[in-house]
Amino acid sequence: MHRRNFIRLVGGGVVIAAGTTLAGCSRAYPPEAIAAWNGPGTEADARRWILGYAILAPHSHNLQSWQADLRTPGEITLRCDPTRLLPETDPFSRQIMMSHGTFLELLDIAARERGLRADIELFPEGEYGPERIDGRPVARIRLVPDAGVAKDPLFAQILARRTNREAYDLQRPVPAAAWQAMSAAAAGQPALHFGQVGADAAPLIARHRAIAAEAWRIELTTPRTIMESFEVLRVGPAEVAQHRDGLTLMDPMVVAMARVGLFDRSQAPAPDDFAVTSQIEDFNAKLASTPGFLWIVSDGNDRRTQVAAGRAYARVQLAATVHGVAMQPLQQALQEYPEQAGPYAAIRALLGAPPPAQTVQMWARVGYAPPVQPAPRRGVDAIVVAG
Ligand SMILES: Cc1cc2nc3c(=O)[nH]c(=O)nc-3n(C[C@H](O)[C@H](O)[C@H](O)COP(=O)(O)O)c2cc1C
Repeated sequence: MHRRNFIRLVGGGVVIAAGTTLAGCSRAYPPEAIAAWNGPGTEADARRWILGYAILAPHSHNLQSWQADLRTPGEITLRCDPTRLLPETDPFSRQIMMSHGTFLELLDIAARERGLRADIELFPEGEYGPERIDGRPVARIRLVPDAGVAKDPLFAQILARRTNREAYDLQRPVPAAAWQAMSAAAAGQPALHFGQVGADAAPLIARHRAIAAEAWRIELTTPRTIMESFEVLRVGPAEVAQHRDGLTLMDPMVVAMARVGLFDRSQAPAPDDFAVTSQIEDFNAKLASTPGFLWIVSDGNDRRTQVAAGRAYARVQLAATVHGVAMQPLQQALQEYPEQAGPYAAIRALLGAPPPAQTVQMWARVGYAPPVQPAPRRGVDAIVVAG
């Protein structure tokens, strides 16, 4: 059967974005793929217990590029797995660095819960340059017992946090108290600026939606960027259980077709293919349902700043979770590949973040949405390098 016919047969079910709704148990992830969300339980080894929370951090494309070296007692050395990068959509690994920031933030919060102070030394063997990252550690963390260390109330949200890609409730704006909590969660980093727009600013909201829509269209219709997503796309329970990472697609019809070899992931679909147009339509409907957007802008864009932005984003999302507020990053327009130059310039202009002085590190849609299941995780053993 021709691919195009197959896509038509599937009829709207092809959605590449990670995550599915809870509707219908056949869309549920296999229990082993989400077992990490039960938390580390009674794990006696403090470092492994802490890592059991850190691995629940958000990571671009859910790639989980963390490697935790435990060979020095009392320490964790964090490195980046060079096989888990996104060279096409994230050519300078900015978002990978942010995804190490989210990990470090959850690690820090979990350490506090255990009465440990996490002394985090970033880039102990030198900071990466702006172009690429290398095998040197992202951080060396010493865990020091400290009776004076304060527990963080956001700890209670780690197991509940989700990236939510559902349609949001347009009639339910995000209340001021929730925006305030998110903004406060991002504070404390002098080089970062939190911004937000809500339903009371309709023309601005329309601009946000338009830029996000155009950026998504570009990513889906640029062959090498859609292929990068296809490479980490896990279709159906067997692939999800096998990999426990990446983007997921659980629509039963697509899963059935993939099983008999009728979902071709070996080449990019044509721009007018239903696989592309249906996704654009679906994403635009979700944008149209979105009552608010937030962003984190940084002064400068060195590696420490990128890590700090990731730490701030993790806190913002945990603070939103307290208020039952859902969010989904919209990173396409922030990506630094040539085809995205238009949306990249447009979002910077809209947010008043002129290059090169400032960088939009994170941009997300925000609102209320039905709950979603947690995303797969590979587990602590998969990221640990032990002696
Ligand atoms: C730096 C960064 C960029 C992200 N970009 C996107 C994005 O553009 N679209 C999206 O749907 N999710 C995005 N995410 C969310 C991840 O896909 C998500 O964290 C991952 O799939 C795991 O799911 P979870 O957050 O529910 O645990 C991003 C996360 C991070 C940390």
